[in-house]
Amino acid sequence: MNHNILITGGAGFIGSHLTRLFVTNYPEYNIVNLDKLTYAGNLENLKDKEDKPNYTFVKGDITDIDLIKKIFEENKFTAVLHCAAESHVDRSIFDPLAFVKTNVLGTATLLQTAKEFWKDDYSKKIFYHISTDEVYGSLGDEGFFIEETSYDPRSPYSASKASSDHFVRAFYHTYKLPVIISNCSNNYGPYHFPEKLIPLCINNILHKKPLPIYGKGENVRDWLFVEDHVKAIDIIFHNGKVGETYNIGGHNEWKNIDIIKELCKQMDEKLGREKGESEKLITFVKDRAGHDMRYAIDASKLKNELGWKPSLQFEEGLSKTIDWYLNNTEWLQHVTNGEYQHYYEEQYK
Ligand code: NAD
Ligand code: TYD
Repeated sequence: MNHNILITGGAGFIGSHLTRLFVTNYPEYNIVNLDKLTYAGNLENLKDKEDKPNYTFVKGDITDIDLIKKIFEENKFTAVLHCAAESHVDRSIFDPLAFVKTNVLGTATLLQTAKEFWKDDYSKKIFYHISTDEVYGSLGDEGFFIEETSYDPRSPYSASKASSDHFVRAFYHTYKLPVIISNCSNNYGPYHFPEKLIPLCINNILHKKPLPIYGKGENVRDWLFVEDHVKAIDIIFHNGKVGETYNIGGHNEWKNIDIIKELCKQMDEKLGREKGESEKLITFVKDRAGHDMRYAIDASKLKNELGWKPSLQFEEGLSKTIDWYLNNTEWLQHVTNGEYQHYYEEQYK
């Protein structure tokens, strides 16, 4: 079947990979990318796709209900792939209300508009909400998040994403709006904004700047290459069951300190530096407030029901990621100008 798809947040990290995949693989679909272009949104991320006939960009805010209604009216959307969000935990600690506005009100605005426009015929429509494993809270040494794990968000970011997930389910149960949710673990890869751990450390190693590790670096995250995430979204979008939730994860748990050491090792080799040189940049700094200890996803539902599994080993994915940053220093320079400097000074002073 054909689709007119609204992708929100398509100029961000995951959104740009998702938009690229859909624009490339589905020339018969019309794709509209709606993005506010916050500090995290960057049209350079999609430069290779901007002239494609099945792709349109609209600059706008998902909380602007008049705009959302207008583009629904104009484009007769049959699907929404909702990626737009405020996405960084540290920023949510500085400014929680920005997260409530975009992540909660923005999601509810999209749901309400989709309900109004689709209410006469829900068939062949889908509202796909892209969410995070952080809604499940923090694990101890054992266990994994499954789809039935109770929500226990502990940062303003994860609380706002949990709330948005609840609204999506509420629209399914109350109005029968056809929805799907996926909750994914930490992503990494090209176009990742360098406020997040991996690209921040790649950038700092490159410039021989301190590598700030919160606390003792013992916190564990489950890392997935971003292209594997968007492939999972593609599979779920086309074959997933309405009303269901799917966990997506890499089965790839790493302590922060070990990731940084691996990055240092690989970058010393690639940059022709002496072995051990970059590790000297490691600096233990004040821990994040309410820092979740461990995230780990059990993605067996997705594997068993829809046949998805990650394609890359972490060391290989990191190597590809580092190569991308080393070959795209201009991109890095552009996104670390201006607002980034101000954020960096405040966060790491
Ligand atoms: P990002 O911060 O890189 O990109 C977010 C995009 O949303 C940006 O382009 C930004 O301009 C846009 N945006 C922000 N507020 C907006 C608004 N009010 N209206 C319109 N556009 C707006 O985020 P990301 O890392 O690509 O994450 C995308 C989604 O995936 C988020 O919903 C996030 O919660 C989820 N997620 C992220 C990860 C991860 O590791 N990065 C993991 C799991 C789930
Ligand atoms: P981050 O990339 O912000 O993702 P999230 O908090 O959503 O998991 O952080 C990943 C891990 O790295 C997390 O445990 C916090 C830690 N971290 C640091 O130690 N130093 C840093 O400068 C940053 C940004 C994160």
